Amino acid sequence: MGEIDILLGLQWGDEGKGKIVDALTPEYDIIARFQGGPNAGHTLLFENKKYILHTIPSGIFRKEKLNIIGNGLVIDPSIFLKEVRSLEIPVDELVDKLIISSRAHLILPTHRLLDEAYEDAKGVMKIGSTLKGIGPAYTDKTSRSGLRTGELLKDNFHEIYTIHRERHLKILQNYEINTKIEEYEKEWFEGIELLKKFRIINTEYYINKSLNEEKRILAEGAQGTMLDIDFGSYPYVTSSNTISAGACSGMGVSPRKTGRIYGIFKAYCTRVGSGPFPTELHNKTGQKLRDNGYEYGSTTGRPRRCGWLDMPALKYSCMINGVTSLFMTKADVLTGFEKIKVCTAYKTGNSFVEELPFDVNADIEPVYIEMKGWSEDITGIREYDMLPAALKEYVSFIEKETGIPVNIVSVGPDRSETIMKGKF
Ligand code: GDP
Ligand code: IMO
Ligand code: MG
Repeated sequence: MGEIDILLGLQWGDEGKGKIVDALTPEYDIIARFQGGPNAGHTLLFENKKYILHTIPSGIFRKEKLNIIGNGLVIDPSIFLKEVRSLEIPVDELVDKLIISSRAHLILPTHRLLDEAYEDAKGVMKIGSTLKGIGPAYTDKTSRSGLRTGELLKDNFHEIYTIHRERHLKILQNYEINTKIEEYEKEWFEGIELLKKFRIINTEYYINKSLNEEKRILAEGAQGTMLDIDFGSYPYVTSSNTISAGACSGMGVSPRKTGRIYGIFKAYCTRVGSGPFPTELHNKTGQKLRDNGYEYGSTTGRPRRCGWLDMPALKYSCMINGVTSLFMTKADVLTGFEKIKVCTAYKTGNSFVEELPFDVNADIEPVYIEMKGWSEDITGIREYDMLPAALKEYVSFIEKETGIPVNIVSVGPDRSETIMKGKF
């Protein structure tokens, strides 16, 4: 029986999941997304070309690999259309390499308007959503009013669509919205026509059959554990389960069939949108991290908030996901910092805690230890032993604190700028 390995973000998203999935794809037969939607922006860089994927799994550029959009996703046909056009892969070829779950939900143009309306109405409580309609689409799914991808194959799809559209427009009457639905609708229907060319099937059967045939599957998470609907900094989270457990419900597989859990994290922390971020730096150091790491959102272009590594949050994510291997990205971004800080606990009043508070408004202050930095350019290094001693100490410290081996150190955005360490 084959197994599903799961790769997911341990922080607030943008940890470099796309890059690492692309680098690991040769080891797998199938790459599958299991949650989220076009709020994700996964960047791949190879042969001097950069691609940003939103809905399509990051295995799409490798030959003879199958990619699956699982049932746990929400798909916006208009974004899917643009994404397909941006890949520079002929559609005929793409339809052989990508299958889509009939149970995935569609993001309607009105979901995007609702996202805008709800976010606007939140005032100072704004989540800083990507405004891709994620929240309203998942809300409809949970309240049993959603529209699933399988429906688009039906002759009366237009009628079904109109019922949903009218229901949403009634709700929208209560809000002031400047965007016109027609602006989204034309492309949306073009996207529907494109989707019809793909195999829209019950992917849960395909996945389980593949496992019986000893196929190797890599599940690609989107967002990060700190944005999980249950365990993230609620309400400043996304609307899906981004954690390893989400892979089972988002693909239709038993937890018994999961194998290794790869937890990916940046050597520091970033966050886009609102919500607590204990180690955020509002100073020159934060700006330096942003500049060195080019920390601007892949989906929205917004500057990312930057700060030091948060160990209590990282340990929490390892616990919730059952991480077996850690992958550290953006080590190169820390080059040139004389000292590197790591938050090892939080101070609240007179006491020190390591547990993440339930309340996002809790008054906590990070407690730091300081480590030595390094100044050598590491982007050309491909062997772990060749890395500067101070960086290896940083890695050892993280391994000791978490009790989990760091098996990949990424030293640049290109697929080749990846250092493997040990067996995993
Ligand atoms: P994802 O959402 O987790 O796939 O991550 P994003 O693609 O949104 O953001 C990660 C950004 O960092 C992208 O611009 C990547 O090209 C880049 N990146 C990934 N790994 C590294 C690395 O090791 N070093 C540097 N400098 N950039 C990296
Ligand atoms: P990837 O997969 C970083 C953030 C948004 C916002 C909150 C809710 O590229 O790591 P939503 O659009 O889901 O309603 O937004 O979650 N967010 C992300 N931040 N990376 C992502 O995806 C994100 N997807 C959503 O900025 O704060
Ligand atoms: Mg991203």
